[in-house]
Amino acid sequence: MEHDALDFSGRTVIVTGGNGGIGQGIVDVFSERNANVVVADFAPPLNPRVSLGTGELLQIRTDIAQRASIDAMVSQVMARFGRIDALINNAGRGEGMKRLPDVTQDTIDWILNLNINGTVHMTQAVVAEMRKVGSGSVVNITSAAALSGPAGKNDPMYAGAKGFLHSFTKAVAADLGPAGIRVNSVAPGWIVPESNEATSEGSFWNVMPIMGKPDQANAAHEEALKSGFGGAPTNQNDLPPLSKLGRPRDIGYACLYFASDAAAYSTGQVLAVGGGGYMPG
Ligand SMILES: NC(=O)c1ccc[n+]([C@@H]2O[C@H](COP(=O)([O-])OP(=O)(O)OC[C@H]3O[C@@H](n4cnc5c(N)ncnc54)[C@H](O)[C@@H]3O)[C@@H](O)[C@H]2O)c1
Repeated sequence: MEHDALDFSGRTVIVTGGNGGIGQGIVDVFSERNANVVVADFAPPLNPRVSLGTGELLQIRTDIAQRASIDAMVSQVMARFGRIDALINNAGRGEGMKRLPDVTQDTIDWILNLNINGTVHMTQAVVAEMRKVGSGSVVNITSAAALSGPAGKNDPMYAGAKGFLHSFTKAVAADLGPAGIRVNSVAPGWIVPESNEATSEGSFWNVMPIMGKPDQANAAHEEALKSGFGGAPTNQNDLPPLSKLGRPRDIGYACLYFASDAAAYSTGQVLAVGGGGYMPG
């Protein structure tokens, strides 16, 4: 049998924000495929996390908004595993659903620092290691808010910051392709963890009360199925063509594809994973 392109035995994957709702789904998908998974999050999960395969699951408390914290984490990963095969730039969020009149300078600084500076610095630090071996894959988690006006209208700074990441993905992909490094984006639609507990202390679910809890979102979706409306606070459009709720693993599998050898000829792409709610292209 040919090499299984989706097996990550002996490979190392860093997932920023890996204790959050979507992060846990990404971590589980790679962990099941035997990767060594580094969870680079500044907050612990509500429930302890374990490896689901033969690799390690290593928690390294990291603040991606601080370059020194990133550099310390990357040094620790290199010392422990000696290689970084994939980086999933997943940590990010808005600052409380501020519509345009409510956007302050503090909001602008905060959102840009986390979503843009954090992702750029993480990418720069990890790509420096990938260049030494001439291979690697970076996946940036963006948002449907960056692809669709109606999905982003309630949080324009967040939508704009995620849109930056789409352009950044393409530019860096073009630059790094000859060096053997691929860069792609995954743009989630509304994604809800299965339960309140499948989140972290730093999750927006726990620090932004305006969004409610996963259990409430799950219940709201059940109601939405009856009424035909989406039920998501950022995107109150009709239900997407696939009218089930998006789950963290849906994003995990998209990351797995881009990070794996199965996507060896794909770079600079954005994959929308939102039940068909927005169809780019
Ligand atoms: N949930 C959705 O519906 C949805 C939709 C579109 C895009 N996204 C994007 O997906 C990604 C993950 O979202 P989520 O739903 O899992 O959110 P989440 O808030 O549950 O998880 C984010 C994680 O990142 C961590 N984090 C935040 N700031 C950090 C920092 N400075 N350094 C290190 N870790 C930090 C948090 O502790 C948390 O564990 C984000 O980039 C988000 O913008 C989410």
